[in-house]
Amino acid sequence: MESTERTEQRKTVLSGIQPTSRLTLGNYLGALKNFVAMQEEFDSFYMVADMHAITVRQEAAELRRRSVETAALFMACGIDPEKSTLFIQSSVPEHVMLTWVLNCNTYMGELNRMTQFKDKSARHADNINAGLFTYPVLMAADILLYQAHLIPVGADQKQHVELTRDLAERFNKLYGNTFVVPEPYIPKVGARIMSLQEPENKMSKSDPNPNGYIAMLDDPDTIVRKIKRAVTDCEECISPDRCCPGVYNLLTIYSACSGKTLEEAAGELEGQGYGVLKARTADAVVSVLEPIQKEYARILQDKRYLNDTLVNGAEKAQRRARRTVSKVYHKVGFDSVKR
Ligand code: TRP
Repeated sequence: MESTERTEQRKTVLSGIQPTSRLTLGNYLGALKNFVAMQEEFDSFYMVADMHAITVRQEAAELRRRSVETAALFMACGIDPEKSTLFIQSSVPEHVMLTWVLNCNTYMGELNRMTQFKDKSARHADNINAGLFTYPVLMAADILLYQAHLIPVGADQKQHVELTRDLAERFNKLYGNTFVVPEPYIPKVGARIMSLQEPENKMSKSDPNPNGYIAMLDDPDTIVRKIKRAVTDCEECISPDRCCPGVYNLLTIYSACSGKTLEEAAGELEGQGYGVLKARTADAVVSVLEPIQKEYARILQDKRYLNDTLVNGAEKAQRRARRTVSKVYHKVGFDSVKR
């Protein structure tokens, strides 16, 4: 396999998060915390997906600021730029270079089936642009450029990783082995955190009701208040099975933030009222988020260091990406002119 020319013997992990809105406790416990754990074991690439963000209208200054802030938040959570490659997507132009070739190897029918495209075009009916349609192809390029094996994603992105596999296999068959065929990676530990107001739905940063989610940058008073207001559906039942989704969600949050198992957490709280459950949960969340917030503020103050880190990340990412693009451009016949 040609990918053996990689110097790293470890498997490669890649994931990305869009810089479009505030990240939530759900993003931390379900994704970022795992990214941090995975960097110890894998050759890891973590990316701020600013190019995906413009499939929906963005204000330039705000996008620029949020991209950098999202990268700072990754670092504050423990993504170590010495261990992982942390970069902003648009700073590596190879993403576009590969996207075009992949676009020409993707069928309209395949993209038409993407449920996220259907959802998003319903939500943004005034701006159903071609980028929104080919969004999964850009995502496939993100993944295939780095020859990534494992893609930690939430359930909503699994279909895009499946498409990436199909494109990789199609290209490998047509042009000879070129890409590692990636797999979605749904982490073993990784809590699925639900809305505090509608515990049947995932905790989401785009929830119009801010009481439904805890933003990673919410201050302690806000966190306490939101958890106090969380819905608890049944009375006086604290149990590790899912009989009451609201209570189960709080217990999950408590367990994930305190490091206790669900059973331990439920055992500890058995016979106590929901007031105690909420107070313990709020304490545990604050004790996880507060140090991250302090670190985030510290990193953001050092603009120079932050920028240098992202320049390094872009260069490291580009070295890997360039190898893939040269191979692909040769295979499709784009190297007719030798400079
Ligand atoms: N589309 C992903 C999301 O919105 C973000 C993303 C972009 C991504 N490129 C990626 C995730 C590559 C994993 C791998 O959540």
